[in-house]
Amino acid sequence: MGAILETRGLRREFGALVAVDDVDLSIEEATLHSIIGPNGAGKTTLFNLISGTLAPTRGKVFYKGEDITGHPIHQTIHKGIGRSFQITNIFPNLTVLENVRLAVQATGKDSFRMLAPHLRFSDYLDRATEVLARVGLADRALQIAGTLPHGDQRKLELGMILAPDPDVLMLDEPTAGMAAEQVPQLMELIQEIQAAGGRTVVLVEHNMSVVMTVSDRITVMHQGGVLAEGTPAEISADRQVQTAYLGALYGDVVRGGGR
Ligand SMILES: Nc1ncnc2c1ncn2[C@@H]1O[C@H](COP(=O)(O)OP(=O)(O)OP(=O)(O)O)[C@@H](O)[C@H]1O
Ligand SMILES: [Mg+2]
Repeated sequence: MGAILETRGLRREFGALVAVDDVDLSIEEATLHSIIGPNGAGKTTLFNLISGTLAPTRGKVFYKGEDITGHPIHQTIHKGIGRSFQITNIFPNLTVLENVRLAVQATGKDSFRMLAPHLRFSDYLDRATEVLARVGLADRALQIAGTLPHGDQRKLELGMILAPDPDVLMLDEPTAGMAAEQVPQLMELIQEIQAAGGRTVVLVEHNMSVVMTVSDRITVMHQGGVLAEGTPAEISADRQVQTAYLGALYGDVVRGGGR
């Protein structure tokens, strides 16, 4: 196994602000790799640079060894990188099933799209139904998405990312705004999805107990740069991380922020 996703010297400036500061990141295939750091550390910007939502000032992004720097998001999705956004991103007036069906149809991977001319509407519906079962929303299929409880909306979002069968899922605070008692269920689902398909998950998450439980590796970002990288045990024990801000992360200091 090797790196499925890599950045080299990846940098993004906004005027005088260096949001992502020469980041070298290596994500091993079939792992759950978390990116943590306080508000404004550059986590979402890093996601934007990798997924092609934003162009880097300089530096490179490699996916399965291929240079995908600056490829627009529709291309990275077709290659197999699925990403969520920090805010819920569904079509609220459509049914749950329609949301997933559109995601299947609009953003299939290249392998899936080559089949597209031969696929019928019912094939898309079948795939969407399969995905809904996977994320535990089968019995909500015909409900208007906007009327789902928040926790189920986040599951739907996960379904929409999963629809084109990505190899990498980049999840930006998937549990944000969820009631505490719903968090373990969603995290279990994310772990199952990762393990079952041999998929790779890159997770941005503020909840430290979640991060320490589910991650294979953790990268700590601070002021745009990488402060530390290692296993959960290594990160918990890292003096520099502790003194820099881990104590603050356990408190309420970083709660509720974000774009
Ligand atoms: N489009 C933009 N224009 C200008 N500055 C930006 C833009 N996007 C992000 N920034 C700035 O870049 C820095 C990193 O922001 P980013 O959203 O990547 O942080 P984050 O780690 O995701 O934080 P949070 O935990 O709050 O989501 C912040 O100082 C932010 O204000
Ligand atoms: Mg963010």
